[in-house]
Amino acid sequence: METIQIRRSIRKYINKPLDKKAITSILQAAMQAPSARNQQPWHFLVVQDQEKIKEYAKQTTNARFLETAPCIIIFLTDKENLKTEAMYPQDLSAAIENALLQAASLKIGSCWCGTYPNPERMNIVSKEFQIPSRFEPFAVVGFGYPSEEEAFHHVDRFDESRIYYEKI
Ligand SMILES: Cc1cc2nc3c(=O)[nH]c(=O)nc-3n(C[C@H](O)[C@H](O)[C@H](O)COP(=O)(O)O)c2cc1C
Repeated sequence: METIQIRRSIRKYINKPLDKKAITSILQAAMQAPSARNQQPWHFLVVQDQEKIKEYAKQTTNARFLETAPCIIIFLTDKENLKTEAMYPQDLSAAIENALLQAASLKIGSCWCGTYPNPERMNIVSKEFQIPSRFEPFAVVGFGYPSEEEAFHHVDRFDESRIYYEKI
């Protein structure tokens, strides 16, 4: 619960790469997510090449801050191997949330940049990273050690007025 409470979207990173162990641990968490009919529709493109990341960030309106990210992970699905196509966005979302939480538990900042279902954003990702057409980019997530002092802090969003018991 503590990690859930302190996770924040972090968009300013210090210049320190993520090591392979941290990346693997984030991806292990992602792959532990539940998925419809256990289809596990996820694939991951890990990019640490700073030139490629900068070039991509420059082309976006929603993810400019990624320019300083030491690592991005592109969450993809393989459209040719889905058991329940309509459910894959939910599966990928569950995987991303697991990844964000695992990163926070390692004191690594992250920010989810929505890509699907915006065709323009999806095209930019596919083109910049030369992604084969069967793989659909779902989201780009930036990871890095935070530069803000108060990066991980709790913001209380609990709102009783959103809860209904038995009848709405
Ligand atoms: C589906 C989705 C898409 C998002 N897309 C972007 C994005 O394109 N750019 C961005 O800076 N943040 C993006 N975010 C992060 C949200 O802005 C952020 O989660 C929200 O403001 C709440 O702040 P918090 O994550 O610190 O709790 C996205 C979050 C989600 C869940």
